[in-house]
Amino acid sequence: MNARIQPQKPVLYFFMLFLFVVLGAGCVSTNEIKKTEKTSQEYAVAKTMLQDFVFPKDFLWGAGTSSHQVEGNNNNNDWWQWEQHLPLNMRSGQACDEWNRFEEDFKLAQTLGFTAYRFSLEWSRIEPAPGQFDASALDHYRQMIISLRSKGIEPIVTLNHFTIPLWLVNQGGWLSKGSPELFAQYVQKAVEALGGDVHYLITINEPAVYTYKAYMIGEWPPGKKSTKEAFRVVKNLAKAHVLAYGKIKEIYAQKGWKEPMVGIAQQVLIFSPCSGSLWDKLSASLRDRMINHLFVEALINGKARIFGVFSIRLPKPKTLDFIGLNYYTREYVRNRGLLLPDILGTECVLENPIVRKSWLGWEIYPQGLYTFIKDFSKYKLPILISENGVCSNDDAERSEFIDDHLRAVALALKEGADVIGYLYWSLLDNYEWGEGFAPRFGLIKVDYATQKRTIRPSARKYEEIIRSGRLRSLKK
Ligand code: GAL
Repeated sequence: MNARIQPQKPVLYFFMLFLFVVLGAGCVSTNEIKKTEKTSQEYAVAKTMLQDFVFPKDFLWGAGTSSHQVEGNNNNNDWWQWEQHLPLNMRSGQACDEWNRFEEDFKLAQTLGFTAYRFSLEWSRIEPAPGQFDASALDHYRQMIISLRSKGIEPIVTLNHFTIPLWLVNQGGWLSKGSPELFAQYVQKAVEALGGDVHYLITINEPAVYTYKAYMIGEWPPGKKSTKEAFRVVKNLAKAHVLAYGKIKEIYAQKGWKEPMVGIAQQVLIFSPCSGSLWDKLSASLRDRMINHLFVEALINGKARIFGVFSIRLPKPKTLDFIGLNYYTREYVRNRGLLLPDILGTECVLENPIVRKSWLGWEIYPQGLYTFIKDFSKYKLPILISENGVCSNDDAERSEFIDDHLRAVALALKEGADVIGYLYWSLLDNYEWGEGFAPRFGLIKVDYATQKRTIRPSARKYEEIIRSGRLRSLKK
């Protein structure tokens, strides 16, 4: 399949590109120089001035997971089907057996002082066949919510975390015209069954990253490499969110339940150019706009457009009550050409011995979290750090990671940002998409042979912060 879109209006396209380069790249060339951000020196100074900082009393503290990564035996979805072509150790299998062990794990979360916990519903369990809803699966999720509430933990429920039921795959997945309505119908059943005890809902996890990986570069199911199809999927996901948002609000109002906060989890990556070249800057800037901002902009304004490249119009604007930010790292971008997808560039690796990296080779760059909180504050919506974490075999590195990123959050809060919570990724070691079980993200270690859980020291250090509401040592 042709991976490129041939622009239908080449003259307009190049004119747009010219404007973008001359007017755009010059002033917003990278995230590094946005006016909201501090230089690394300013940041280093500012973060040492947080001795007296105390997190807000009602701040949501906790961690997250997603159904396919922890539940086990989710054999009725697209990821399961995809995994069957991967080596044995890359398949999710029984994962953390969370389906049977959530009570035990929620008790551990409680001992760690959590006030919030994010998890996702597995669509393929709730609706195993089109239009057929499984009452026992719905009841299972209801029990999870009751269990969390009984422990004083706020449930934050994701309605779609990457996986879709096999029956939907057979209908074309997110490419199918009716997918937004099918999603809204599933959401309606799920939300009605959960009762009014859920006050925070995330409709879709990381729509841009999902689309990029699954439809643009073909690394995730269904393994497509088509810009055109990727754009169709983005539109369907955005419409699915809008319809689900409407349904959720309608149900809560009809039942007289307390109005919930509905948002998405947006992955944000700092994109820096590989070199000082204008083209690399252009690609980094375009990636920032397309991957970090476009979806959120569309949901807020009811439309979004990158001239000559992409435009979207939604049934209605203002369908976000909060923005979830999933932040992990910074990537360097090298331009590959002028047409899509090459104009989005590819990643380059800068050899810099000072840079700290996670086990998966991702740069650890806490200042990026501060940058994004400040940047996304322009949307004037509450921000939830819905994911932030590191995979490492060195648990001391995890503590340091958490400390450093919480400093970034604290600094943004001190400067007036509206951050309502922080959810470390992840509560447990779990199945990592396409990587298997080797990456260890958990606050709690999982021995997959026995399913034994062990609380890591980093979790205890995180607990200290949660209980005191204060940052740990500010030596760094
Ligand atoms: C996110 C994703 C999570 C988890 C995490 C760590 O993109 O939402 O499910 O896998 O990355 O890689």
